[in-house]
Amino acid sequence: MIEIKRGMTLDAESDGSVREDGSMYSYESMQSLTQYLLDRTKHRPSVGVICGSGMGGLADMLEDNESFAYNEIPGFPTSTVAGHKGRLVFGILNGVPTVCMQGRFHVYEGYSLWKCAMPVRVMKLIGVKTLIVTNAAGGLNSDFRAGDIMIIKDHINFPGFAGDNPLRGRNDERWGPRFPAINNAYDLKLRKIAREIAEDLGFGEHITEGVYAMVGGPCYETVSELRALKILGADAVGMSTAHEVIAAKHCGLRVFGLSLITNECVMEYDVERSANHAEVLETSNRRKADLEKLITNLVARIQE
Ligand code: HPA
Repeated sequence: MIEIKRGMTLDAESDGSVREDGSMYSYESMQSLTQYLLDRTKHRPSVGVICGSGMGGLADMLEDNESFAYNEIPGFPTSTVAGHKGRLVFGILNGVPTVCMQGRFHVYEGYSLWKCAMPVRVMKLIGVKTLIVTNAAGGLNSDFRAGDIMIIKDHINFPGFAGDNPLRGRNDERWGPRFPAINNAYDLKLRKIAREIAEDLGFGEHITEGVYAMVGGPCYETVSELRALKILGADAVGMSTAHEVIAAKHCGLRVFGLSLITNECVMEYDVERSANHAEVLETSNRRKADLEKLITNLVARIQE
């Protein structure tokens, strides 16, 4: 039992990550968490990758790798989703020192958005300059087919519309400004290079570009919600990513993002079809090789 005291913030977290004065992980506590990792790995990554559902295979491609299960890292949340392994893997990807999150944290697991996004700050302290995010998403754009890969050009952070944001709470300027700009979050140059790579690798016809809408989950969306998202300009919908990208831009990281369209959203009322996690994992399995090739090639061209 935690003792409730005057002035204490009560949050879903009662494990000490919210301190008695209401602040969250302090900069200093993140520095010690980072030091814990750096003391145990020889790698000094400049690229960070967050692997989406069924896409954790990318982390297995890291050479000379050293990994840390989330539940072994002091202060780290643990990942609870099928298809997410739950570890941080350091190693070399196509010649580039890289750190991969094999499994991410979602708000539907019961964590606050700031806690879901905190590994991005760890990456920043580790020395990462570029963050690559991948996710599984439902296709809203009627031109999209299951198996397409969407380069993310922008996002809609729906939790933000309801007042939730990973930057909510006291701001520490050592991370970034109180009111960061978030347009141009997804690096244009990397988006262009990714397209070129897909063409060169022969799957250019499966590459699209569009807007990702983040919703809270864990239930898939109603037909009316999907129609609303589409009217608002979203091409794909999923339950992750925007909070990580916000935290990344706040602390000055360059960002590139990919959505694997794992299912076409059901946009008509009264039909039998519905989204399901098995289909999401099945499509990821079918298409993950191309996605892995794309990212492997991209990391080697980040310096261009
Ligand atoms: N909706 C939300 N999240 C998802 C979907 C979807 O259709 N597919 C994969 N992740």
